[in-house]
Amino acid sequence: MSFCLPAPLAAAIETLVASQRHDEVVRRLALVSTHYRQGRTSEVAIATPADVAAYLSARMPATYAAVCAALSATRELMPDFSPLSLLDLCAGPGTASFAALSLWPEISALTLVDTNPRFLDAARSLGETSGVSAMREAKFIRSNLASAYDGLSADVVMMSYALVELPLDEIAEHARRAWELSRELLLFVEPGTPEGFRRILICRDALIEKGAHLVAPCPHLEACPMPQPAWCHFTQRLARSRRHRLVKAAQTSYEDEPFIYLAFARTVETLRPRGRLVSRARVSKAQLRFGLCRDDGHLVEEVVARRDRERFARLRHAAWGDALFPDGPRNEP
Ligand SMILES: C[S@@+](CC[C@H](N)C(=O)[O-])C[C@H]1O[C@@H](n2cnc3c(N)ncnc32)[C@H](O)[C@@H]1O
Repeated sequence: MSFCLPAPLAAAIETLVASQRHDEVVRRLALVSTHYRQGRTSEVAIATPADVAAYLSARMPATYAAVCAALSATRELMPDFSPLSLLDLCAGPGTASFAALSLWPEISALTLVDTNPRFLDAARSLGETSGVSAMREAKFIRSNLASAYDGLSADVVMMSYALVELPLDEIAEHARRAWELSRELLLFVEPGTPEGFRRILICRDALIEKGAHLVAPCPHLEACPMPQPAWCHFTQRLARSRRHRLVKAAQTSYEDEPFIYLAFARTVETLRPRGRLVSRARVSKAQLRFGLCRDDGHLVEEVVARRDRERFARLRHAAWGDALFPDGPRNEP
């Protein structure tokens, strides 16, 4: 499945980015990328309007696609869930909010918290220009996370691409606080890197200990079986817009965004898959093979012989990241 920015949001980004000089945006993008690669926070990386424009044109489409993929995998397991309110922690330009609104347009109450005023201004402006009414009426709170928790709550609480900016020894406490604010669903999405995975594992342990119900991606509550130095992650392909290609001086018309996520629910009935694909499926003349994280907590290489026609047909369209049910994945062939 592909998750492109909705046309009104893409147009709003284009308007905002076009208000900056193109060469300056390209120059700042190189700096922004260096800052993020070196582990600096957005406070350092996003310091000027051109930095915001660089983020919007080069990073927001990818983080949007990753959040949509994570939300969509989560929604598959809780199809009856229909949230009305959303709290976007470390919201940046509102990426996770826009993604959640595209999947659950019924969300009407929206709160965005971030410490960076340039990002919050961009979120407000994108909401206005794109005409997304929940974003136009959203509450924007400029605050450090630690001072923002009191008094907030929502059906869905999300934090995307932000744990990497928080001190490692504070992650578990932030996860617990965020869980307390969630009336139903809490979702973290992080870059699909060893560092992102490390932080996701800290949240996983902290919230399982709190008794939170882990919806996705893990089909079990056992210790994560992914052997070091491997790290669990998925990838989401996205088409690059003309602006995206120009700013990045990229040749290809698409990119693959690696991401990892974690979804916890409180009360809603969720479906229980028998496993989840944690690698690309490889098809040869004789067989189909893929890594499967199973509901018994084991990570196995599942092999399906082509001569086992009925099973092969059921599984041949299984993709990396899919939940597997006894009758196969639920994705469209
Ligand atoms: C890489 S950006 C991600 C923004 C957005 N969630 C997205 O997915 O595009 C990380 C965001 O976390 C915010 N942030 C980092 N530490 C924070 C803190 N302690 N309190 C509030 N916001 C914080 C930054 O200002 C920045 O907007």
